[in-house]
Amino acid sequence: MKLKNKTAIITGSSQGIGRGIAERFAQEGANVVVNYIGNMEMANEVVQNAQNIGANAIAVQGDVSKVADIENLFANAISSFGQVDILINNAGVERHAPFWEVTEKDYDFVMNVNTKGTFFCAQAMAKHLIETKRRGKIVNISSVHEDLPFPNFTAYCVSKGGIKMLTRNLAVELGQYGINVNNIAPGAIETPINKNLLNNPNKLNYLLGQIPLKRLGQPEDVAGLAVFLSSDEADYVTGSTFFVDGGLTWFYEEQ
Ligand SMILES: NC(=O)c1ccc[n+]([C@@H]2O[C@H](COP(=O)([O-])OP(=O)(O)OC[C@H]3O[C@@H](n4cnc5c(N)ncnc54)[C@H](O)[C@@H]3O)[C@@H](O)[C@H]2O)c1
Repeated sequence: MKLKNKTAIITGSSQGIGRGIAERFAQEGANVVVNYIGNMEMANEVVQNAQNIGANAIAVQGDVSKVADIENLFANAISSFGQVDILINNAGVERHAPFWEVTEKDYDFVMNVNTKGTFFCAQAMAKHLIETKRRGKIVNISSVHEDLPFPNFTAYCVSKGGIKMLTRNLAVELGQYGINVNNIAPGAIETPINKNLLNNPNKLNYLLGQIPLKRLGQPEDVAGLAVFLSSDEADYVTGSTFFVDGGLTWFYEEQ
């Protein structure tokens, strides 16, 4: 068990990649804090699954785009488990629109959840670790789109590019406190965020043609790397982005 006696907050973990990470962390012996924004039933299911295999787990409702909710999330985690050792900034959203049609509302929505949420969750984690004089790990679930352009998802790309710089900055600024900060950049993972793609066989086949490993990723593919980056084995790893994309980012082919 690689995370025994560690407490981990995983934002947006009632489904998708976050859920995969929460359930894997429970298998690795972590106390798991399942943050969710709306679906309490699914969050409770993740908690139940963790408890069924002997892990401690709680669900905490909260919108990561609101600093007051983030404070409440950390307060709940600390009152249940005494401390937080690992933060996985997973919550994320996207909106599809050509650049010239992006509304202020959609821009704010994407930036507030993805970038502001990641920023202030990381700040709450840093304050907690510095105050309690303990080391810790922050892992941000970014995207291949922190580097790779994605037409019609400009706000999403900007939000993930921001997370790339946030990670580099924090790695440098927080290193002196023993806080490691890294990004995981998933490619195309089979989760509800991709439901339009998954329901469109033509689009899906075209995409699969551009993935050297010839399949979509699964939440478990991301969870394995999240375990490593959150474990003592990654004590000298900070400030980097790790791609979990089946080779998608570097795909190039000529007919
Ligand atoms: N699936 C992919 O192909 C893929 C690729 C690259 C990056 N990602 C990133 O992975 C992360 C997880 O996405 P997913 O694929 O599991 O999609 P998902 O839609 O299944 O999961 C996103 C989760 O975030 C939660 N969430 C949204 N807004 C929130 C808020 N304000 N506060 C708290 N929680 C909130 C949702 O309720 C949901 O549980 C996201 O950051 C996403 O950008 C996903």
